[in-house]
Amino acid sequence: MTRLIQSQHWQNLQLMAKHLPHMRQMFSENPNRFDQFSLKTCGLLLDYSKNRIDDAVLAALFALAKEAQLTQKVQAMFNGDIINTTEGRAVLHTALRADATDDIRVNGINIVPEVQATLAKMEDFVERVTQGQWRGYTGKTITDIVSIGIGGSFLGPKIVSEALRPYWSKSLKCHYVANVDGTSLTEKLNKLNNETTLFIMSSKSFSTQETLTNTLSAKDWFLANGAAQADVAKHFVAVSSNVAKATEFGIDADNIFPMWDWVGGRYSLWSAIGLPIALMIGMDNFRQLLRGANQMDTHFKQAPAEENMPVIMALISLWHSNFYQAQSHVVLTYDHYLRGLPAYFQQLDMESNGKSVTLNGTDVDYTTGPVIWGGEGTNGQHAYHQLLHQGTGLIPADFILPLQSHNPLGEHHVQLASNCFGQTQALMQGRTYDEAKAELSASALSEEQKDLIAKHKFMAGNKPSNTLLMDKLTPATLGAMIALYEHRTFVQGAIWDVNSFDQWGVELGKNLGNDILTRLNADEQCQALDSSSNSLINLFKQAHI
Ligand code: F6P
Repeated sequence: MTRLIQSQHWQNLQLMAKHLPHMRQMFSENPNRFDQFSLKTCGLLLDYSKNRIDDAVLAALFALAKEAQLTQKVQAMFNGDIINTTEGRAVLHTALRADATDDIRVNGINIVPEVQATLAKMEDFVERVTQGQWRGYTGKTITDIVSIGIGGSFLGPKIVSEALRPYWSKSLKCHYVANVDGTSLTEKLNKLNNETTLFIMSSKSFSTQETLTNTLSAKDWFLANGAAQADVAKHFVAVSSNVAKATEFGIDADNIFPMWDWVGGRYSLWSAIGLPIALMIGMDNFRQLLRGANQMDTHFKQAPAEENMPVIMALISLWHSNFYQAQSHVVLTYDHYLRGLPAYFQQLDMESNGKSVTLNGTDVDYTTGPVIWGGEGTNGQHAYHQLLHQGTGLIPADFILPLQSHNPLGEHHVQLASNCFGQTQALMQGRTYDEAKAELSASALSEEQKDLIAKHKFMAGNKPSNTLLMDKLTPATLGAMIALYEHRTFVQGAIWDVNSFDQWGVELGKNLGNDILTRLNADEQCQALDSSSNSLINLFKQAHI
């Protein structure tokens, strides 16, 4: 049995989970519940009152965090300690948004100057491209950017750029290619002119098959349309921690933006991986994004647990996962620009905490990372909210809403807000049988039918949700919100005692895939593997004779 399960605080929480009153009752007994369970910081307001919590539960959760030495673990991360123990690396995505005067050391060397130098290199590049000084091989200015990358080298740039659409430059368009499916690249290239297109190849390892294949094909397209090998330097830049491989690939040394092994892919948008973001919104706004995240870092480091937004969000989510068996967590963004954000948080959290051994290699005997999913509100209300309200499982929800719209239009925004708040209220209070029956009282249904329908209209409620508000979606509030979720993930991993910063689970599929690629390309039929893999391989070969 792991230390966590043996904890007295853990066992207290198990008891509390059985006896907590329905949220309806807790709200009716405490008219100030919102004031008691809401928090403001970094331009964000978190309403966490619609959760299955009371003072005693929170106190036990804070005690569990203290017992897990959370404060010490937070300090270790910010200090650059080697906390990614299986890869022997520090975890310092926070250094990417640190003040230029900070002194943050890795192996005794202050890394902040190099971070700042890379930001300056990014600024110069962004200026030259957006101001028209950077010219293509026929002397034309750049009109289209193609960002090639996958995972954190795709999701961060694409989703953050989309979220900040109101801040985009007028002169550039940006296209994102991640999947190795030829359709993804072909559909973009068919619309582009190689004279005015600039490719950004983003790969921390510079060994990701999809990204290498897409970049090679993009280069073939570039050369097949009138350009020469010598022109590649004007149309291809790279972001990687593997400068040698990038140079070997043919990227001009001046066009390689460094990143570092102490930045995980899913934490890398703040680095030069964010180059597409900076090109689209401008370097000043990109620095605002960094500043917002840095403000949340300061809050996370300094605020006591009881007033710490990432800690509170993490503990309440852990409470529902480990003590109410919630298997997933839904993120509902009531803002069209944020429609991609759930997918970003999916990689951030699931690739970090989808683990089943503790740091010392002991099998966990408790639930760790939940499935993170979600989408755009109000669309989800017409797709999957039914299950949130009346399904058999518990799915805690985060509702995100900017109070001001970038596109005020009549009643639209107030209706969006009414839906957002209505959903959280319905999840919390549900609908009793008597209330459902009363709604049917005027109907022509028989008593027996009214009874049956009322049973189907019953909603248990007591479904937990957070509501996260900001005045407006800006680079600063977006940066603070993403950092909030990064630290939320950190806190959960720290309490579950897992390594949130490696990803050994993604290797096997890649390696087996490479072996199967060889068999797919071989002349002979495949008989060496299991019958399913053999059959699938041979069916594909049959279809490509
Ligand atoms: O999925 C594994 C992973 O390493 C992610 O963590 C990363 O964001 C993605 O693949 C791409 O990796 P790279 O930036 O090295 O190409």
